[in-house]
Amino acid sequence: MCLNVVRSTILGMGMAVPPKVLTNHDLEKMVETSDAWITERTGIKERHILEDGENISQYAIKASKEALERAGISPEDLNLIICATVTPDYLIPSLAVLVQEGLGASRAGAFDLSATCSGFVYALSIADQFVKVNPECKVLVLGAEALSRKTNWQDRSICVLLGDGAGAAVVGKSPKPSQKGIIDFILGADGSQWPLLTLKGGGSAFPPFDDRLPKEEYYIKMQGREVFKFATRVMERLALELLERNGFSKEDLDLLVPHQANLRIIEYLRDRLNLPKEKVFVNIDKYGNTSAASIPIALYEAEKKGGLKEGDLVLLVAFGGGFTFGGVLLRW
Ligand code: ACO
Repeated sequence: MCLNVVRSTILGMGMAVPPKVLTNHDLEKMVETSDAWITERTGIKERHILEDGENISQYAIKASKEALERAGISPEDLNLIICATVTPDYLIPSLAVLVQEGLGASRAGAFDLSATCSGFVYALSIADQFVKVNPECKVLVLGAEALSRKTNWQDRSICVLLGDGAGAAVVGKSPKPSQKGIIDFILGADGSQWPLLTLKGGGSAFPPFDDRLPKEEYYIKMQGREVFKFATRVMERLALELLERNGFSKEDLDLLVPHQANLRIIEYLRDRLNLPKEKVFVNIDKYGNTSAASIPIALYEAEKKGGLKEGDLVLLVAFGGGFTFGGVLLRW
């Protein structure tokens, strides 16, 4: 391996979720469902939800402050903030701009990235490119979602799945490129499948309060079974392609961090890749599906629990509405 190669790496991570917890038993009082059904079909036991008066920007800022502190980087050192989200506080300004202001990151550009649950993986790959072009560049990458604000609490097919939260990573040049940093990534999309997962109301096709659209279309709608099939296919393909084209086998992998959408999807992937349980990180039971925030929250917790040591081969894989999908292979 060429030792002069520039690699980007995660220098520090942070996460923050609202304190309010909504359990499966709470949901039993809201829709016709049961703790047993939700647990068996999804693996979710509880999720964190914003209180009235709170916004996801405050948790995005909190997660970012922790990531900066752990990276030993001051906000003024940031060159760019990329915030993966489909549920920003406002359409204008972006969530990234609110984070920039909240941190006092006066030298940073800031923009939001919309790629549903694959958003963090997309954003990480962009940060990687910035660092490769300018190795002094420091990029703050976030996944932050307030899905509860776009959830139809009368629709049991979706409301049991989603949660709110934020995860952040500071990305910069790897001090040891041969042992630590992003190795490769794949991004993909299949726009032909877009009707399977939608939030139509409130965009420019159907502006807010447009009478042509039923009220339910102002919330996330999903054909779960079809999404499930797509997810299992694409996650396996991504994982195998990223490993193979970089000369690794499944056995070389130290930790798989999949998007936390459904425990059955994760278990299917684990089975197909023939990985032992301890090599696949799972925390969906505590947070549900937090879309773009799911992978950074999982990666943060994997590190905090001591499940990651320097040099470990780690694979992040995600899929989401659109459809979008992506994977990042890295040495921790
Ligand atoms: N409680 C009780 N019963 C329910 C519930 C519920 N919350 N939701 C659906 N059911 C019922 C259905 O009505 C159906 O009843 P029927 O057999 O009498 O018709 C039965 O349970 C089975 O329904 P399915 O939809 O077939 O259940 P499935 O096993 O597919 O599980 C689920 C549904 C959990 C949504 C699953 O399909 C899934 O996880 N799909 C993937 C979702 C996903 O990964 N989304 C990612 C993107 S999210 C985003 O981008 C924001």
